[in-house]
Amino acid sequence: MDKLLVTGPSHLKGQVVVSCAKNATLPILAASLLFDQEIHLKDVPKLNDVHTILKLLQSMGVTSQEKGDILSLNASSVPNLVADYALVKTMRASVLVLGPLLARFGKAKVSLPGGCAIGARPVDIHLTNLEKMGAKIEIDKGYILASCERLKGASLTLSFPSVGATENLMMAAVFAEGLTVIENAAREPEITDLAQFLRSMGVELKGEGTSRIEIQGVERNFRFHQKSPYRPIGDRIEAATYIIAGLMTQSEVEVQGFAPWTLEAVLETLEKMGARFKRLENGVIVFPAAKLKGVVIETAPFPGFPTDVQAQMMALMCICDGQSIITEQIFENRFMHVPELIRMGCKITLKGNAALIEGTPSLSAAPVMCTDLRASAALVLAALKAEGTSDIQRIYHLDRGYENLELKLQKLGAKIERVRG
Ligand code: EPZ
Repeated sequence: MDKLLVTGPSHLKGQVVVSCAKNATLPILAASLLFDQEIHLKDVPKLNDVHTILKLLQSMGVTSQEKGDILSLNASSVPNLVADYALVKTMRASVLVLGPLLARFGKAKVSLPGGCAIGARPVDIHLTNLEKMGAKIEIDKGYILASCERLKGASLTLSFPSVGATENLMMAAVFAEGLTVIENAAREPEITDLAQFLRSMGVELKGEGTSRIEIQGVERNFRFHQKSPYRPIGDRIEAATYIIAGLMTQSEVEVQGFAPWTLEAVLETLEKMGARFKRLENGVIVFPAAKLKGVVIETAPFPGFPTDVQAQMMALMCICDGQSIITEQIFENRFMHVPELIRMGCKITLKGNAALIEGTPSLSAAPVMCTDLRASAALVLAALKAEGTSDIQRIYHLDRGYENLELKLQKLGAKIERVRG
């Protein structure tokens, strides 16, 4: 297993360009199942999770081809409507094939994704709302068996603005009879991006980015038409990670390739702590800040503070002046970075879903272990600040969602290297 050796304290300088967003790319790749023609995507990030969903799509019969920065997918023939446990268990977002398969083929057999390190992650909101659209859903031997001659447009109200459920239902609605309205829909920028991709194919929908999304269903023989390759939005979570890297190391860093509006809650929180930014059209410049002060935050669905930046923010709070509190409201077990950060000298105590952080002036390098994707990023950030060389193990978690992280940080001047294991 590969590991990273990171020597701190690092100083960074220069510009980093984030890749296209993992959490926009995955639903768009799943949406390829809707179309019986070739579709083209641009700048798809080279991530393990993207590789996994492509393997899953290929196992169903989708063909894919890469030419330069264009990835072409063709789902004109999908003989296998089963999403196998062996693949789904490695990446829960595989459940996003359920909506498109059911919409276009009238049936699907998708392994229940099961939990993961950060929580149980049920899919009840996906399933109960597909049933409201007329689907027959059974659970048998760990698989979701879904069938329906043709889904019916319906008025749906989600019990929680689930990102994945919103995406599955948007895709299911494409071939449903009539109009589907999703109330209490997730508002994340990745939802907006899926909507813009579907619209670019000719799907009629509106309201993305608000809590009410409307999708007009079409007949299965509808002729879609893609004018040009679609490029997913820049990765706001990756951007937040590099912005915090700049603040951890009191460096001036320009983070390009994402729209600042997609990260407003994080930027405003950092400004409250004393950080200063120059907002650009497609990025920000973060300036060195002598001393940042602790704050109290809680994670929430967009436009609230994103749970995917909670671990990285905690690493920064560990070296701020004074106390901070983070309450994790989205996932039930998303503090696994805490014991590892404590090994580096961080002062954190947990009380239920709240973490109390006491700022400390310095951290010390240590051997640490990655437990999940964003926790891994937090360990890298702390290691950039810590005195000495940290040995960060099990970085396969990191490779799921960060493209060329060590190369991008090396280019900024960080002392970081990957040791292949
Ligand atoms: C997406 O996961 C992201 N993944 C996650 O990013 C992100 O943390 C999450 O949204 C929240 O923003 C992708 O987009 C691939 P949810 P998803 O459905 O869709 C509960 C990362 O680090 N829930 O909004 O699974 C669920 O248990 C990953 O890139 C139900 O109870 O998130 C959780 O507590 C991690 N029933 C909460 O809602 C359901 O049917 C949020 O889940 C669905 C969800």
